[in-house]
Amino acid sequence: MRKINKIGVIGAGSMGAGIAQVASTADCKVKIYDQSEKVCEDAVDKLEKVLLRLIEKGRINESKKNSILSNISIVTNINELSDSDLVIEAIIEDLEVKKSLFKSLENIVTNECVLATNTSSLSVTNIASSCQIPERFLGVHFFNPAPLMPLVEIVPALQTDLTIVSEVTQMIKIWNKLPVIAKDTPGFIVNRIARPFYGEALRIYEEGIADFKTIDESMKQLGGFRMGPFELMDFIGNDVNYAVTESVFKAFYYDPRYKPSFTQKQHAEAGWLGRKTKKGYYDYSGDSKIEEFAVELKSNIVDRILVMLINEAVDALYLGIASKSDIETAMTKGVNYPKGLIEWGKEKTFNWCVQHLDDLYSCYHEDRYRCSPLIRKWAIEETKT
Ligand code: NAI
Repeated sequence: MRKINKIGVIGAGSMGAGIAQVASTADCKVKIYDQSEKVCEDAVDKLEKVLLRLIEKGRINESKKNSILSNISIVTNINELSDSDLVIEAIIEDLEVKKSLFKSLENIVTNECVLATNTSSLSVTNIASSCQIPERFLGVHFFNPAPLMPLVEIVPALQTDLTIVSEVTQMIKIWNKLPVIAKDTPGFIVNRIARPFYGEALRIYEEGIADFKTIDESMKQLGGFRMGPFELMDFIGNDVNYAVTESVFKAFYYDPRYKPSFTQKQHAEAGWLGRKTKKGYYDYSGDSKIEEFAVELKSNIVDRILVMLINEAVDALYLGIASKSDIETAMTKGVNYPKGLIEWGKEKTFNWCVQHLDDLYSCYHEDRYRCSPLIRKWAIEETKT
């Protein structure tokens, strides 16, 4: 078993800083490098404040804080990452920039060093192709904020050595995180399966079936989701969420199931990005609380979004994107869904799923509503038992 203790983190933005905190908390020695030294310094200052708050809350003591901080050092020259056991890259989401970074990084690190990208939307296999030793390359996808979100998607490239996959998976467990293994396909597990949560909600709004608040409240109060789709898009940022949707749509060769929405595009264009601009689907300029007004909850809205989510989850299993248990873990731990979607489908019954999807298909005649063959198979089995 490879010893993975010296960690290099490239990019000290939101993700890089969070990953550095996770690794240093797990007693790894972390060197962070960013093209801007100031970003690194700010990241360490912020971490110090976070750790002081954790002391106040009684979650860590002074000596743990000191050890976490002493485990992290800022490096101003990328060559200083030469002795790393693992380098995790969390720089700008740009394929060519990432590829050129790894190409030059291979001249700095040893041949034994594992290389990882935190990309959320690019092809890991494509980035791996820039390496001379692509077998040591893989995706290690943390969720934001990394110190708080338990899930990490481990994404082997086509070229990745399976021993490296199991060693890194083991390391992620030691880092107190929950690893799941995802096939290198657009959106991996979470960002693929979650698409209808936003897309179908936007579509329901665009068809004039309900307003933002009715959809959100129905999903929360009847569906048990912690946040409604519009609240969540405002939280993530309409620019970010739209960019992910657009990239998944393109990467799937324009499969209508992942089609982006004009409503969201226009919100992004107007600069109505959500909480960060104080305006999105809701107004946050006042006391930053969503306006309170009563709405009539609609279970048909919940059913429609839910059945599309179940369809995505079952189809991901059908296409071998991940194991059943990893799909369930990913959606409950990565985006806090109240239940695993496959289990939810079973509870609703797969015959119910087929009926709802076929009703939508016969209404719209759009491929977007095609039912996964695995749901049909399970529905037949269900009828037999
Ligand atoms: P960010 O914009 O907060 O930070 C990126 C940092 O990389 C910046 O500090 C920038 O100065 C630095 N950088 C850019 N090019 C560089 C280069 N060539 N060499 C060294 N440093 C460079 O971005 P964020 O949000 O931390 O995202 C980083 C990566 O993580 C992206 O690939 C993103 O897709 C992925 N990701 C982001 C999530 C999020 O919710 N923000 C979630 C999961 C993954």
